[in-house]
Amino acid sequence: MTRRLRTTDIRDGGPADLPRIAPLMQTSFDPRYGEAWTSAQCMGMLALPGSWLTIAERGGAPIGFALARATLDEGELLLIAIDPPHRGTGAGRALLRAVVAQAHARGVRRFNLEVRSNNPAMNLYLSEGFTKVGERRDYYRGSCDELFDAVTIQKIIP
Ligand SMILES: CC(C)(COP(=O)(O)OP(=O)(O)OC[C@H]1O[C@@H](n2cnc3c(N)ncnc32)[C@H](O)[C@@H]1OP(=O)(O)O)[C@@H](O)C(=O)NCCC(=O)NCCS
Repeated sequence: MTRRLRTTDIRDGGPADLPRIAPLMQTSFDPRYGEAWTSAQCMGMLALPGSWLTIAERGGAPIGFALARATLDEGELLLIAIDPPHRGTGAGRALLRAVVAQAHARGVRRFNLEVRSNNPAMNLYLSEGFTKVGERRDYYRGSCDELFDAVTIQKIIP
């Protein structure tokens, strides 16, 4: 299948962006899995030292975001999402690469991420050099109390 890659603008975000990304949070995460965060949860995370928000834009409008944090040389990608109409056109990969570069600039050498084991996003991470380092049984609780395993993956950024 031929895919049409489109340019994505990446910029640093902050608490002022939360009202604009709240609708993306709702459209981007399947409610079955209960993975979306509230604005209050995002605000609380951004108040902690070492956390940061990155915004993906097209035509000056946000189409995706990532939330991450760093503690010394260890980092974690907490959330990454692209609005469904913009998926499959390279925005997710551009955003992920930008966040990895930002993590590296903050001194992160081991960048971790929990992924629901049946999330097709795994293809993206594996193709960007993340490797599986662990598993957590029943880590996610879905909207109907269904439990889903998580895979812990990691990218070494030397
Ligand atoms: C994961 C996500 C951010 C990818 O964004 P995207 O803009 O579609 O990604 P890209 O267009 O840059 O695609 C990059 C790669 O992702 C993989 N991919 C993304 N969605 C996929 C899907 N539904 N099925 C299979 N592979 C998929 C492909 O390997 C693709 O590689 P290719 O370029 O060789 O085809 C997006 O699907 C999303 O927001 N998902 C919902 C939120 C979520 O689950 N986030 C991850 C939490 S861990």
